[in-house]
Amino acid sequence: MSLDGKVAVVTGAASGIGRASAIRLAQDGADVAVMDLNADGLNETAKLVEETGRKSIPIAFDLLDRQALASAFDKVKQELGFIEILHNNAGGSLREENKPFPAADAGQWDYFIALNLTAAADCTRAVVGDMKERRTGRIINTSSERAFIGGPGMTDYSAAKAGILGFTKSLALELARYQITVNAVCPGITRTPILDRMPDEYLKKSVESVPLKRMAEPEEIAHAVSFFASPGAGYVTGEHLLVAGGRTIH
Ligand SMILES: NC(=O)c1ccc[n+]([C@@H]2O[C@H](COP(=O)([O-])OP(=O)(O)OC[C@H]3O[C@@H](n4cnc5c(N)ncnc54)[C@H](O)[C@@H]3O)[C@@H](O)[C@H]2O)c1
Repeated sequence: MSLDGKVAVVTGAASGIGRASAIRLAQDGADVAVMDLNADGLNETAKLVEETGRKSIPIAFDLLDRQALASAFDKVKQELGFIEILHNNAGGSLREENKPFPAADAGQWDYFIALNLTAAADCTRAVVGDMKERRTGRIINTSSERAFIGGPGMTDYSAAKAGILGFTKSLALELARYQITVNAVCPGITRTPILDRMPDEYLKKSVESVPLKRMAEPEEIAHAVSFFASPGAGYVTGEHLLVAGGRTIH
């Protein structure tokens, strides 16, 4: 298997895209530490990872708590070893409330920028020193089609997801000399629990606007993550891959 002997960390792995990514990286051969707020979902993901024959450590904590984050990454290094693959995936929005920008308070803005952008930088900071020393590493960030097309009621979310792309490109340039690649996957509407909180009418309209006329399955996003993590993608850096059913084609 292409990732045999490697260690990966996936954040936001209690459900949806993060769970699918953790399982796929394990199917590719990696041991996978999974991180999320949701302890029950995380334990289930760890069980599914172990069913592939690989090791998993579930670590439940709030990614916005920097001390807890540092301890979590230390634990992974101690128990599994060098972290060669990091999938910064945790995120979310208030799409279900569709709050217009002037109605959303500054605290809401800070929270979604912290969750979707700053937490990815913090997790990266926790692994990048070892990656530089060993001159190898894969950092994969979850952005969104919303970085490209925006969306009413999503100013904080699309700003953070566009920010992730700027982060990806600059970091790719900084780390290229160490053979560390940094890329982003940009999902379109994907069948995950994030959608449970959204009105049916909104979901129906969204799917109608997708040229492929369906949602993505989380496994289809995980396939793109697996590509960026694979040895064959070693010459791909600073890129983003839209997995959005054609919605961003103009
Ligand atoms: N589903 C979609 O349509 C879609 C589209 C584009 C981008 N995305 C992005 O994909 C990523 C995964 O989302 P998903 O659709 O799988 O939804 P999801 O709700 O299944 O996964 C998000 C996970 O992040 C976790 N999380 C939230 N805040 C956290 C915190 N402070 N600390 C630790 N964990 C936290 C949640 O508990 C959850 O398990 C997100 O970044 C999301 O923005 C999703």
